[in-house]
Amino acid sequence: MKTSDEPLRVTVFASGRGSNLEAILKNINAGKVNARIVAVISNNSKAGALELAGKNNIPAYHISQKQYTDEHLFSDALLKVLQQHNTQLIALAGYMKKIPLPVIRAFKDRILNIHPALLPSFGGHGLYGHFVHEAVLNYGCKISGATVHIVDEDYDTGPPVCQQCVPVLENDTPDTLAARVLAVEHEIFSQAIQLFAQGRVQVKGRRVIIADR
Ligand code: GRF
Repeated sequence: MKTSDEPLRVTVFASGRGSNLEAILKNINAGKVNARIVAVISNNSKAGALELAGKNNIPAYHISQKQYTDEHLFSDALLKVLQQHNTQLIALAGYMKKIPLPVIRAFKDRILNIHPALLPSFGGHGLYGHFVHEAVLNYGCKISGATVHIVDEDYDTGPPVCQQCVPVLENDTPDTLAARVLAVEHEIFSQAIQLFAQGRVQVKGRRVIIADR
């Protein structure tokens, strides 16, 4: 549990445009989140998130499994950057690759992921981005939403920290639903990070206990 008022040191992993990263930065700058993004890591050298980091004077790293012959060298490279920046929390903000086990174990209960559905529904391998919203619409759901969850050793299976619903509308397409869910992602990710910054999160098995203020 974090106690001091020092900003929580967060390293963000992202593979794409970085709209979640941008939303977290906005909420930090607005004083809603007592955190500091100390590094951004991407598997994609062309990720908008790396460009966004650069514009905000945040150390940005392109680190990909493809650069390493051995997966241990890859996880060592990630751990080196995480430790170099004294990372206290890892935020997977649109990160499309699996986090290596050594990193998950080194940061047990201190890695968050954002998923664009109400887990455990519509989660797991292959259900990401557009495919999630397509599956929700094909199933005929009346509500969808977003989940911030603790990352454990499998895809999308860790206990939720924050969840929020959005309505599914009659004429929704995967894109219109994605946009409605994304707006909620941008809010609940920052809320979850702030809970960690306030030292209010305790993970007990499958339960995430949020202490009162
Ligand atoms: C988001 O919809 C998130 O749910 C998923 O990746 C998508 C892209 O995120 N994990 P971003 O716009 O790059 O932050």
